Amino acid sequence: MTKFILAIDQGTTSSRAILFDAERRIAGIGQKEFTQIFPQDGWVEHDPEEIWESVVWSVRTALKEAGAEAGQIGAIGITNQRETVVIWDRETGRPIHNAIVWQDRRTAALCARLREDGHEELFTQRTGLLLDPYFSGTKVKWLLDKVEGARQRAERGELAFGTVDSFLIWRLTGGKVHATDATNAGRTLLYDIGGNHWDEELCRLLDVPMALLPEVKDCADDFGATEEKLFGAAIPILGVAGDQHAATIGQACFAPGMVKSTYGTGCFALLNTGKDMVRSENRLLTTIAYRLGGETTYALEGSIFVAGAAVQWIRDGLKLVKHASETGPLAQSADPGQHVYMVPAFVGLGAPWWDAEARGAIYGLTRNSGPAEIARAALEAVCYQTRDLLEAMRKDWKGHDGDTVLRVDGGMVASDWTMQFLADILDAPVDRPTILETTALGAAWLAGMKAGLWPGMEEFSRSWARDRRFEPAMDAELRQAKIAGWDRAVQRTLSP
Ligand code: G3P
Repeated sequence: MTKFILAIDQGTTSSRAILFDAERRIAGIGQKEFTQIFPQDGWVEHDPEEIWESVVWSVRTALKEAGAEAGQIGAIGITNQRETVVIWDRETGRPIHNAIVWQDRRTAALCARLREDGHEELFTQRTGLLLDPYFSGTKVKWLLDKVEGARQRAERGELAFGTVDSFLIWRLTGGKVHATDATNAGRTLLYDIGGNHWDEELCRLLDVPMALLPEVKDCADDFGATEEKLFGAAIPILGVAGDQHAATIGQACFAPGMVKSTYGTGCFALLNTGKDMVRSENRLLTTIAYRLGGETTYALEGSIFVAGAAVQWIRDGLKLVKHASETGPLAQSADPGQHVYMVPAFVGLGAPWWDAEARGAIYGLTRNSGPAEIARAALEAVCYQTRDLLEAMRKDWKGHDGDTVLRVDGGMVASDWTMQFLADILDAPVDRPTILETTALGAAWLAGMKAGLWPGMEEFSRSWARDRRFEPAMDAELRQAKIAGWDRAVQRTLSP
């Protein structure tokens, strides 16, 4: 009987379920978008019930598409939008509030206060992160402070906190398992990534009772099994990783020095630094790349909050295109003589600026500027920001002397035009793999490998295949002029 591996990829704007067959080919996909809730400027929420329904729907749809039954699935791997916070009642499984999404800036003042009180160094030392509202910890505090009765209930052990992986594991197992993996725990501001445990002192500083926290496991581990009534069979959950970590795995970036960049809602570049917890001097994050067999591999991460979200804005906000895929051709038709720059700081700026108060801006408009120039500026902005991240990585990681080849994935990399511009601006080659579903593939590999159905790391690595390499071809002077224009645009956008 064929054994499939199911990857559940719970992203920021949609949930997806992808069924891989024994040859690691995609046999079925289910995907559902869900509502983005923007209650105030800079606030972003999701309804956890809608997330849950979209996941169940996607799994059932993937099964139907593949003509498969749940009993044929060997294991499930879960990957997810990271940092997003859900708190639910352990008795009923019901969330006490909407999920507060990673992009949400409502705790900016709290972060500033903690920084002024001199706590940032301790947080960075233990967690590899910065005091920015991006991460979970201050969002958890906000919920406990603002939702009536929540703090008392949390202290009595009646509530559970989790990132989305944890919430899904709870629901899938019918409330039997409250767990997460090391990569997701590492994004909460509450987890000591060197010692690999929840940190009492940080929890105290953020007023988070430890009774709320899930058990932290390896990325390939036993996370329980789905309730039979959900899909028709009890399926073991054997892999969990935050989406950027799963993409690092799916891109087979297993050796120190390998770097990938994923273009989803945001853009996240991870450089594998092996066993070294490299401390950034350029405002990058130190993060757990993955933890396997109790061994932690670390990475340097650069996080950009808006990538595909800018394309979504062009489609849904400005209504310049009907489908996201039209953005590349539209950008390509722009007037090369115009120098329009967009800084898509819709929810502030991430690495290396970490400016929660900045907001988006467009510069260089003339009477001749139109949809094409704006579309081009949006796509180019993602490339300039990737360059900012890789430059910071180059400075931070002294062990790195070889040439960088960037492995890319995510929706935006389907655009040849964008990938060529990226290679041009980086002045380095960009590799696009044949399987673009690298995040799902990474989660599936964790589960499939743990189940003994998929090969180990080396063979999996060897099977990574390139669809196309984009070589830099831009004149050096032009590149420098464009980068200087981008730098000026960012400087003018940063908050005072
Ligand atoms: O840190 C946030 C990240 O995990 C979200 O990823 O793919 O939804 O942009 P994505």
